[in-house]
Amino acid sequence: MTYAKILGTGSYLPANRVSNDDLAQRVDTSDEWISSRTGIKARHLAADGEKTSDLAVSAARRALEAANLVPADIDLIVVATATPDMQFPSTATIVQQKLGISGCPAFDVQAVCAGFVYALATADAYIRSGMATTALVIGADTFSRILDWNDRRTCVLFGDGAGAVVLGASAQKGIILSRLHSDGNYLDLLKIPAQIADGAVCGTPYLQMDGQAVFKFAVKQLAAVADEVLHAAGYTAEQIDWIVPHQANERIIAATAKHLGIGMEKVILTVAEHANTSAASIPLALDAGIRDGRIRCGQTLLFEGIGGGFAWGAVLAEY
Ligand code: UT7
Repeated sequence: MTYAKILGTGSYLPANRVSNDDLAQRVDTSDEWISSRTGIKARHLAADGEKTSDLAVSAARRALEAANLVPADIDLIVVATATPDMQFPSTATIVQQKLGISGCPAFDVQAVCAGFVYALATADAYIRSGMATTALVIGADTFSRILDWNDRRTCVLFGDGAGAVVLGASAQKGIILSRLHSDGNYLDLLKIPAQIADGAVCGTPYLQMDGQAVFKFAVKQLAAVADEVLHAAGYTAEQIDWIVPHQANERIIAATAKHLGIGMEKVILTVAEHANTSAASIPLALDAGIRDGRIRCGQTLLFEGIGGGFAWGAVLAEY
């Protein structure tokens, strides 16, 4: 049996760190409000001219280095992003060009904050089926460009960043099982209702969210999909060494862990320093946990994420 095994990870955060106190100078908010409701203390924001693909390439180079591979070894590129450099071509092809790779399939996955679990499950399916042997899976977003910086309900929640994973075909256990879901009936809860048409931006090009409804939906569906993936794989929650969740809100993360009966000491938490980096948040957390030595070879990881669409999913993997 062929598995998709994690061979290396990398991540990148823009240099500009903006604390809650810094934000409170710009909008009517406070460190107390933001941190008590979300766990967020700071976020990193891309510099002028620093694009999603630039963040993605920096993370990808670090992941390739960790895997002891070079760009020419890659035969599939999947980029999860909701903030592409351009309407088209895909950010994945821009990353491909910047890394000097040519010929292999490269495409974007658009599942907003669930993008990385969608991308990971997709690359896993390519590797299991023999359509790829060495995949670069990236989550990268620059939400700072799609926020209304006068809207305190949303602008305090997000940050920019990128994380990357190199997956390789292996006889050793790697990704065990994935479960993905979406339900377009909930599309109004979180959206940017705009498009480019007739030579102009039509609609409102800023993120809109019903925060409380998203919170409730996320808590319910993340618990359900975590149960589903464990049940389908024949695993119990006790076998999970680390939950590596999407980092939107510490209270949502804690609710999923509590549902599974897993203590917060087994959760990789980066939301305080990264805020919600959308598709980048899971691979950023994974890379942090691997590089600081908490996540070790042979351990069992549960990735879970949810975002606009609504789209959500979970991936169980052995590292
Ligand atoms: O990847 C998925 C993405 N999104 C999420 O996961 C977000 C899920 N939702 C949440 O995390 C929470 O709903 C929020 C953190 C967004 C909001 O927390 P909340 O406890 O649901 O607050 P709320 O929206 O009910 O607002 C409570 C109050 C309101 O004032 P009034 O009407 O009670 O006077 C808001 O105007 O807090 C006010 N408020 C703020 N005050 C200070 C909203 N944003 C802020 C702010 N600073 N930044």
